[in-house]
Amino acid sequence: MAIFLLLLLLLVSAVAGDEDAFVGVNIGTDLSDMPSPTQVVALLKAQSIKYVRLYDADRAMLLALANTGIQVTVSVPNDQLLGIGQSNATAANWVARNVIAHVPATNITAIAVGSEVLTALPNAAPVLVSALKFIHSALVASNLDGQIKVSTPHSSSIILDSFPPSQAFFNRSWDPVMVPLLKFLQSTGSYLMLNVYPYYDYMQSNGVIPLDYALFRPLPPNKEAVDANTLLHYTNVFDAVVDAAYFAMSYLNFTKIPIVVTETGWPSKGDSSEPDATLENANTYNSNLIRHVLNNTGTPKHPRIAVSTYIYELYNEDLRPGSVSEKNWGLFDANGIPVYILHLTGAGTVLANDTTNQTFCVAKEGADPKMLQAALDWACGPGKVECSPLLQGHPCYEPDNVVSHSTYAFNAYFQQMAKSPGTCDFKGVATITTTDPSHGSCIFPGSIGKNGTITNGTSLAPSSNSTSSGCASQYFYGTGSFTTSVIIAVLLLSAVFL
Ligand SMILES: *[C@@H]1O[C@H](CO)[C@@H](O)[C@H](O)[C@H]1NC(C)=O
Ligand SMILES: *[C@@H]1O[C@H](CO)[C@@H](O)[C@H](O)[C@H]1NC(C)=O
Ligand SMILES: *[C@@H]1O[C@H](CO)[C@@H](O)[C@H](O)[C@H]1NC(C)=O
Ligand SMILES: *[C@@H]1O[C@H](CO)[C@@H](O)[C@H](O)[C@H]1NC(C)=O
Ligand SMILES: *[C@@H]1O[C@H](CO)[C@@H](O)[C@H](O)[C@H]1NC(C)=O
Ligand SMILES: *[C@@H]1O[C@H](CO)[C@@H](O)[C@H](O)[C@H]1NC(C)=O
Ligand SMILES: *[C@@H]1O[C@H](CO)[C@@H](O)[C@H](O)[C@H]1NC(C)=O
Ligand SMILES: *[C@@H]1O[C@H](CO)[C@@H](O)[C@H](O)[C@H]1NC(C)=O
Ligand SMILES: *[C@@H]1O[C@H](CO)[C@@H](O)[C@H](O)[C@H]1NC(C)=O
Ligand SMILES: *[C@@H]1O[C@H](CO)[C@@H](O)[C@H](O)[C@H]1NC(C)=O
Repeated sequence: MAIFLLLLLLLVSAVAGDEDAFVGVNIGTDLSDMPSPTQVVALLKAQSIKYVRLYDADRAMLLALANTGIQVTVSVPNDQLLGIGQSNATAANWVARNVIAHVPATNITAIAVGSEVLTALPNAAPVLVSALKFIHSALVASNLDGQIKVSTPHSSSIILDSFPPSQAFFNRSWDPVMVPLLKFLQSTGSYLMLNVYPYYDYMQSNGVIPLDYALFRPLPPNKEAVDANTLLHYTNVFDAVVDAAYFAMSYLNFTKIPIVVTETGWPSKGDSSEPDATLENANTYNSNLIRHVLNNTGTPKHPRIAVSTYIYELYNEDLRPGSVSEKNWGLFDANGIPVYILHLTGAGTVLANDTTNQTFCVAKEGADPKMLQAALDWACGPGKVECSPLLQGHPCYEPDNVVSHSTYAFNAYFQQMAKSPGTCDFKGVATITTTDPSHGSCIFPGSIGKNGTITNGTSLAPSSNSTSSGCASQYFYGTGSFTTSVIIAVLLLSAVFL
């Protein structure tokens, strides 16, 4: 026991880490319908997201994040890097305007200086370390260096020979940058920021990397990757890449620098050349990732050492150039509606609340339209559903067909009955789904609307002013039980059509 504790202490002190790992989310803003900062923050709150990374230091966003308790990593965009890396005064100005002006109300905890500079903007590489040092000295001057870390996110492609991890090293051409950079990170108690994309590793491996290994799915023991030098077993690509980075640092004699994964994720949609960019795979990857990170599992090389991780990304970014998958890494669409419901029940803190248990009641595929119409009439009548959104000119009028309208009414009834068993049946023409049927400005009851708040849509006691419910003018009003309504409706329809 004592030996175990001692070992544990040694491990912990090797890569500092008495903190629990967290999961945060990146917020990209290339959306044609970008939600306002207030709406973004409402979504973060509703989803219990407590850590975010911005790709800039947008003033309105930082103001909206004030007094929320959310911890924020701000970024120096690549196009400002040359200026900052060449002038201490420019760096100090940047810090004054984008950081000092906002703390402590906005809890800025890190500055990411540039993004994948060595691979994306190599001509700025010579000033990268100066930029970090200038920014850091401005923080020191304001006594903020203790609470705000300075680092720079790297593409994992700067790590060569990354499997087996024990043989990994940073591309030697970058030694003139990496060595002083790691010295800076170590001396300031900062961390290595690393972007880890098992999706691309898998795509580029030509079948060498099994999909299950990329998605954190269990592998049969004979398929697990073993590092022959260390005999460490790797059950997923994510751990192997993080360990490759630890080994690459120790190859340069830096052994005390922790790693934060600044980006990782999986796209939920792709074109025909991207068959593994699917809802199911994105859900599996991110759900397993969150479980893995929050469990403080660490990696085979550094078990139980926190590897905090930011998911890429909060929203699907429809304006991003490139393939279909490029636009589909988000957890939510611009309306704040989840792209998929993470399999996280029981996982606890992040995204655990509203996305896990969201269920909706919808019209069954292929249901008899007459049965649907009758059930719709019942819901908007005796069922006391507030059906006015279905009226012409109102948000849920389009598409104007019985499937769409009955789906709205069934769901509203189901939500107003607190989803109790048996309230999503409607004589067998309704069924429960986890996919939010909201569309455009038609936000369904029970949906996490654009503001991140659950929409109730209706109260349990609608006014008795039946004409104001909006149904009367459009739908037949049954008076008795659902069965009676069906009979009457069918009779009426028969009368019309026969
Ligand atoms: C940059 O300027 C600060 C004052 O803002 C000064 O304290 C610091 O020494 C300078 N740093 C460098 C690297 O020149
Ligand atoms: C900011 O985050 C840090 C790190 O968790 C925490 O210690 C501190 O209390 C937070 N500050 C505010 C003002 O919320
Ligand atoms: C290493 O980096 C240099 C400079 O960017 C690049 O030209 C070279 O292709 C890289 N080497 C490998 C093996 O990726
Ligand atoms: C790392 O340290 C070892 C032992 O002190 C030394 O032999 C080696 O040259 C160092 N490597 C680098 C890249 O500094
Ligand atoms: C959680 O961590 C424990 C030990 O720390 C480990 O045995 C277990 O497999 C981990 N679970 C997951 C889902 O990673
Ligand atoms: C989700 O639903 C299940 C079963 O209805 C329930 O046991 C669980 O507590 C719910 N979780 C949340 C986060 O509401
Ligand atoms: C869900 O959120 C509410 C308030 O936002 C919080 O009190 C509750 O603990 C959360 N439940 C879970 C399972 O995270
Ligand atoms: C939601 O946001 C809209 C603006 O898009 C605003 O008009 C509305 O009042 C907000 N609703 C709530 C409940 O905050
Ligand atoms: C939604 O309905 C629930 C119970 O049906 C109620 O507790 C809650 O306050 C309502 N929320 C809003 C925003 O009306
Ligand atoms: C009842 O409906 C009529 C006609 O739509 C409307 O003028 C009136 O204000 C409504 N009364 C109430 C109490 O909602």
